[in-house]
Amino acid sequence: MKIETVLITGASSGIGEVLAKKFGDGGYNLVLVARSKDKLDVLAQQLSTETNSKVWVEPADLSSSDATIKLSTNLNKQGIEIDILVNCAGVLEHGNFIDLPASSHQGIIDLNVSGLTNMLSQFIPPMVARGKGRILNVASIAAFQPVPSLASYAATKAYVLSLSESLAEELKGTGVSITALCPGVTATNMVEKAKQESGGLNIPDFIVSDVEDVAAEGYRACLKGEVICVPGVVNQAATLMGRATPKWLLRRISGAMGRYTLK
Ligand SMILES: NC(=O)c1ccc[n+]([C@@H]2O[C@H](COP(=O)([O-])OP(=O)(O)OC[C@H]3O[C@@H](n4cnc5c(N)ncnc54)[C@H](OP(=O)(O)O)[C@@H]3O)[C@@H](O)[C@H]2O)c1
Repeated sequence: MKIETVLITGASSGIGEVLAKKFGDGGYNLVLVARSKDKLDVLAQQLSTETNSKVWVEPADLSSSDATIKLSTNLNKQGIEIDILVNCAGVLEHGNFIDLPASSHQGIIDLNVSGLTNMLSQFIPPMVARGKGRILNVASIAAFQPVPSLASYAATKAYVLSLSESLAEELKGTGVSITALCPGVTATNMVEKAKQESGGLNIPDFIVSDVEDVAAEGYRACLKGEVICVPGVVNQAATLMGRATPKWLLRRISGAMGRYTLK
């Protein structure tokens, strides 16, 4: 039987790195993508030794407009077909919108929106042609409501969730499933960096998820073809409450929480 190949963006750290390990343990071959070739090489070496997976390293800056075409051309040349695509690469800048430079907002959009969309444009059509495939897009619980102090980031994640839900319907009957993983605050470099750059954030420990748990939920939901996956009871309760709350009240609550975390 053919061993399926999973391409994971953002595999050099955090949720993407743990997802790579989960797919490796699950018997899949892996294509690891991020900018840090050195980190990807170390992970590839580890996964090749600990699992039976073949692992390819494809360094790329996915915020650049031609990166996905170059990546897919490179894979085609090597005869590598992608059966599962995990879009995990993402960036976040924390702070009030007007305190961040325009380049920060653009950088978030270039990777979280354009990079992810380009990956889908490149890799979904061959999956549909083969009648089989899976996509895991990493969104966030920030996708469900406005998040003052993370305004651009939350807007990009709302885009990822909306796009994933639309595509889930468009792709019905094609054999290709699409899942939006919507983690809450998760203990990774992303949160550490935001804390350091903002001079400390007030984030209560009980809302911080473990990266292993988040990746395990994403892996499970992707293979089951669930459309939306929110890992953790606290995050599930928050999104449920958000849906049941009038928009004006949700904005006020989000505003108060944004001001609290920035202190
Ligand atoms: N941590 C959280 O609280 C949280 C919550 C909800 C959703 N998420 C989402 O989860 C995903 C993973 O984040 P994480 O928490 O695991 O953070 P992380 O450890 O900082 O990982 C981010 C990954 O994205 C890659 N990346 C960044 N810029 C890139 C670029 N221009 N081109 C290619 N790859 C790039 C990074 O690798 P290089 O630097 O090597 O390129 C790294 O592998 C993101 O989409 C994030 O929005 C995180």
